[in-house]
Amino acid sequence: MSTKVTVIPGDGIGPEIMNEVLKILEKAKAPLQYVEAHAGELAYEKTGELLPDQTLQSIKENKIALKSPITTPVGKGFRSLNVTLRQTFDLYANVRPVKNLPGAPCKYENIDLVIVRENTEDLYAGIENQIDDDTAESIKRITRKGSERIARFAFELAQKTNRKKVFAAHKANIMKLSDGLFLESCANVAEGFKDIEFGDVIIDACCMQLVRWPEAFDVIVTENLYGDILSDLCAGLVGGLGIVPGANIGKDIAIFEAVHGSAPDIAGKNLANPTALLQSAVMMLQHLGHNDIADKIMTALVETLKSEKARTRDLGGSATTTVFTEALMSNL
Ligand code: NAI
Repeated sequence: MSTKVTVIPGDGIGPEIMNEVLKILEKAKAPLQYVEAHAGELAYEKTGELLPDQTLQSIKENKIALKSPITTPVGKGFRSLNVTLRQTFDLYANVRPVKNLPGAPCKYENIDLVIVRENTEDLYAGIENQIDDDTAESIKRITRKGSERIARFAFELAQKTNRKKVFAAHKANIMKLSDGLFLESCANVAEGFKDIEFGDVIIDACCMQLVRWPEAFDVIVTENLYGDILSDLCAGLVGGLGIVPGANIGKDIAIFEAVHGSAPDIAGKNLANPTALLQSAVMMLQHLGHNDIADKIMTALVETLKSEKARTRDLGGSATTTVFTEALMSNL
């Protein structure tokens, strides 16, 4: 039985990398059926809306989506579409595994950590006020419910994936109420998971420690803004944005997408690295219980990246997007 998946090609390099990833999934015989839907600039051109109702309906029906990056116009009047999608479907857990891959240029070895970022609260909830012409404020709202459920998600993920430590990253020394509540909630949840070590780290120290000893981290649970910044930092540790995947997970619905954006600087040039979206598709297969196919794709990916000829420009190689895909498909 094949599972229906909403596929959003997105903007910029989005359609190119989605095309390659779907070819790989097909070659790997993933039992999936794809329902195309649009969001972002492409959607605007086609329908006059950035996030058409049809797209929301499709995600609601299929409950699983694979999404390429979308361009959010900068400026007033446009809400981030990604934030809207996460809030509409209450996709409260943003999961970003960060792991070395062969051939990816990086200064470190043995990095294997997961960032679990709260995805619906904090400064990204978009509660902003213009106080007067020269003053604006953004309100950071943290709730016990939101903090406890993300902490529980992080501990359960650690248990399921045989990880040993969960660290809460926060700034409770300064924001005693909001971050204090987040930290207290994580500590309360940790009481129920005695087999997993729990610790906490102040976010600025966490950045320093990640750059010095990234291999010491296992699961990091954190708030929305810190998680966003930490995941780009960690992408840099393992070779850049072209390889790091992500998932936005809620109670019933999950959207899988790369950490990177629509990369307008290289769009349409056959230069984009599809690895991050491919690894997001691998996470989707695992989520659906197709671990055998997920493993098969990962083995082929690792094999492909060992060859310099198959690496794209962001990884120091000279392969085009299509050359990378062809090499990977021949390794499948
Ligand atoms: P970006 O991630 O698109 O690009 C940053 C740099 O990384 C660029 O030099 C780009 O060429 C490179 N890069 C990114 N992905 C790559 C890949 N797969 N292969 C090779 N090189 C890659 O970030 P930027 O430029 O800040 O954002 C561009 C647009 O993307 C903005 O409109 C932003 O709002 C949007 N965005 C969308 C996201 C999403 O839909 N999930 C996430 C982040 C940004």
